[in-house]
Amino acid sequence: MQATSWDPAQYLRWSDHRLRPAVDLLQRVPLASPARVVDLGCGTGNVTALLRARWPHARVTGVDASGTMLERARASDPGVDWRQADVGTWAPPAPVDVLFSNATLHWLDDHAALFPRLLTLVAPDGALAVQMPRNFGEPSHTSIYEVAREGRWRARVEPLIRPEPCKPPEYYWDLLAPRVRALDVWESVYTQALTGDNPVADFVKGSWLKPFLDALDGAERAAFEHAYRTRVARAYPPRADGTTLFPFRRLFIVARC
Ligand SMILES: C[S@@+](CC[C@H](N)C(=O)[O-])C[C@H]1O[C@@H](n2cnc3c(N)ncnc32)[C@H](O)[C@@H]1O
Repeated sequence: MQATSWDPAQYLRWSDHRLRPAVDLLQRVPLASPARVVDLGCGTGNVTALLRARWPHARVTGVDASGTMLERARASDPGVDWRQADVGTWAPPAPVDVLFSNATLHWLDDHAALFPRLLTLVAPDGALAVQMPRNFGEPSHTSIYEVAREGRWRARVEPLIRPEPCKPPEYYWDLLAPRVRALDVWESVYTQALTGDNPVADFVKGSWLKPFLDALDGAERAAFEHAYRTRVARAYPPRADGTTLFPFRRLFIVARC
């Protein structure tokens, strides 16, 4: 799959909602004082800052493929070892105590191979902690695919439609339980209360919609976005008080090695 180009400003517009699952995941990592911590897919470093605050004595590495996101991360904290690399192939020099990944691994395919590989990067008594969105069957995401297939842009954008990247919780249980000492897998649906005009479209524009818009130019890009926004506005109408509720399912995994 072609790498997505990230826009930190668009992504961070909804940073409160995007950070909350990372906080929830972090609370469930039962390590008091890990020496080596890695944030896989660290983006702008927002979540890395939480890891630094929780474990101030740890050596923290942030890994991300996007130079734009890392530029912001580097400016935020010179005390982190920031690395530009593909998390599908990157490996630390020695196994680490916490391998943390918030909202990143759904960008990678073949979880059957990826997750066992990640476990090999975790030291004995360490933990792999992962959060991934699992909203791909909801109108926020299916509307992208419908618009992609229906318009004159079909030939260009249809190849960007991927099979659902994240599997149900039981899939990860079956994959990981035989390989680890203890495993915690759960899902939460966050009822995100958003404000503004068509905020669900705006939220998705910072992530899953972006590769589709990036594949188109000028008028076509605008027409694609308009068609998407129209569908999403119908699927997520504002409440009487003007708030738009955007239910968003997320999957969490904490594996103790
Ligand atoms: C949705 S952002 C999450 C950023 C951060 N973890 C957070 O929670 O705010 C996803 C990040 O994953 C990175 N990413 C996606 N695929 C990647 C890959 N194969 N290797 C490294 N980074 C990747 C993107 O560059 C982006 O910064």
